[in-house]
Amino acid sequence: MGKNKSRRSGSSDRWLKRQRRDVFTRQAAELGRLSRAHFKLQQLDERFGLLKPRMKVLELGAAPGGWTNYLEQRVIGGLLIVCDPRPIAAAAQTVVIEGVYGEKETDQEIMEHLEGRTLDLVLSDMAPNMTGIRTADQARSMDLVELAADAASRWLKPGGNLVVKIFQGEGVEAWVANTRKRFGTVKMVKPKASRAESREVYAVAQEFLVID
Ligand SMILES: C[S@@+](CC[C@H](N)C(=O)[O-])C[C@H]1O[C@@H](n2cnc3c(N)ncnc32)[C@H](O)[C@@H]1O
Repeated sequence: MGKNKSRRSGSSDRWLKRQRRDVFTRQAAELGRLSRAHFKLQQLDERFGLLKPRMKVLELGAAPGGWTNYLEQRVIGGLLIVCDPRPIAAAAQTVVIEGVYGEKETDQEIMEHLEGRTLDLVLSDMAPNMTGIRTADQARSMDLVELAADAASRWLKPGGNLVVKIFQGEGVEAWVANTRKRFGTVKMVKPKASRAESREVYAVAQEFLVID
């Protein structure tokens, strides 16, 4: 019994130490932000100049709302549509679509709110529920990347931008090569606020090209 107890406290000690070390988690708590996710988007915005007041933005995979919270402060006077099947903490002026992107009903709702308008930016932090089976998880995460790219193709204005979370692995190189044909630039970035041990990176695709 004594042995089990010390093993348990050893792992919780390590967890506690990591949390304390983790400056971004600490900062998020201090500032009352929903999560470290907020800082990832802030770092991408500061580096690429993604956001301006009055922009029209679609955010996919928005729950619990860390990015949404940041976007609400940056696109004042614009249109912000956020989508996730899970609850999203959002301000009253934000259009919240509680649905799975890729399903017909969700698609229709987005189009109703767009009323024929195009977007300046499509963001996706969508991630699948991981099963632990690496090839299956990678395939499902690439499906979500494709869905985000599809949203961009349909609704971005010429010159618009796409930011999408990608897990490094099978399919990424081919996706990047293909996306380079449709955008002026595509950069793969790991924000400092993203955990070093995670395979997560973000593709920042800028200057959407209209190809007939
Ligand atoms: C890492 S979390 C997003 C965190 C969010 N950016 C934030 O700042 O709070 C990933 C989210 O993707 C959502 N998701 C996964 N597949 C989706 C889909 N097809 N449509 C919409 N959301 C999806 C999940 O429900 C989950 O809430």
